[in-house]
Amino acid sequence: VRFPWLVLISGALAAACGGAPLPPSDSADSAPLGNQLTHLHRAADVPDDCAVIPGKPPPEPLERKYTGVAAAARCQRQVYTIMGGVTHFLGVKCEYCHVKNDYRAMTERKRIANWMASELIPRLRKQDGSKPWCNDCHVVNGEGAAKILGQPRNRPWAIEWMTTRLVANFQTAKGNALHCKSCHHANIGSPAFEAHVILTDNLPKD
Ligand code: HEC
Ligand code: HEC
Ligand code: HEC
Repeated sequence: VRFPWLVLISGALAAACGGAPLPPSDSADSAPLGNQLTHLHRAADVPDDCAVIPGKPPPEPLERKYTGVAAAARCQRQVYTIMGGVTHFLGVKCEYCHVKNDYRAMTERKRIANWMASELIPRLRKQDGSKPWCNDCHVVNGEGAAKILGQPRNRPWAIEWMTTRLVANFQTAKGNALHCKSCHHANIGSPAFEAHVILTDNLPKD
């Protein structure tokens, strides 16, 4: 299974969505769903969300082409599965990223989430060679969190997080060691250090 986190949450989300085209946001992001998700464990042997099951209606095709967070979706139901995942992994509600009742509308946080999925993640791999996902970085005290560098952002903590969580746990996609300058142009303390990385092309090149 290429996306074990996908199958993990699909059951809970399917129950929450009931197959409706757009789940009412108050049920999709309510606490019970969050609680359900917390108790699910990684499992690789759950059937695919988009599998054709004899006697059941065929899976709904994708409504459009997704190139960001939902790029792995093979049918529309999987878009919801993925959304349930990011909601859980960031410890937020759907409205953290979406305009209520208009999931298609672009927002700044959707833009960032898509950048994480389509720019940052493909340039990295974990030390075991596998591809990272949101939950490999967005964790604070064992819980999913959107803000991981302190709230408000805390420079000493950011340096510690970057050193002990990011550079220590990841490599470049080509398997080379990550350095601060891979993403910040220069080492911290140098005047050329660029704090801003999100939505830029300051990413490891090889
Ligand atoms: C971390 C931000 C984030 C959260 C939280 C989030 N989404 Fe999304 N959602 C996105 C992004 C980004 C896209 C576009 C994905 C792409 O283009 O690959 C998207 C796409 C969608 C779409 C498809 C819209 C279209 O353009 O066709 C739906 C429906 C959706 N989300 C529903 C939800 C629901 C329901 C929740 C809560 C369970 C949720 N999302 C939580 C970021 C988020
Ligand atoms: C390699 C580490 C890493 C991975 C993997 C990662 N992120 Fe991030 N993300 C970050 C860092 C660092 C920040 C800045 C956090 C802060 O400001 O505290 C961030 C910030 C964000 C923000 C802005 C949050 C805010 O409120 O300012 C969103 C949204 C986001 N990430 C979504 C995602 C999604 C969705 C995924 C999975 C597709 C993902 N990220 C994967 C490192 C990562
Ligand atoms: C794979 C890319 C990557 C690498 C490698 C990396 N960082 Fe970061 N760093 C980020 C991202 C993403 C953010 C969030 C930046 C933003 O908000 O645009 C960030 C933010 C920071 C911040 C907060 C900046 C501020 O003022 O808001 C500091 C400090 C920092 N990093 C230090 C380091 C140090 C020190 C190293 C080396 C040990 C390092 N980083 C390695 C991606 C990286």
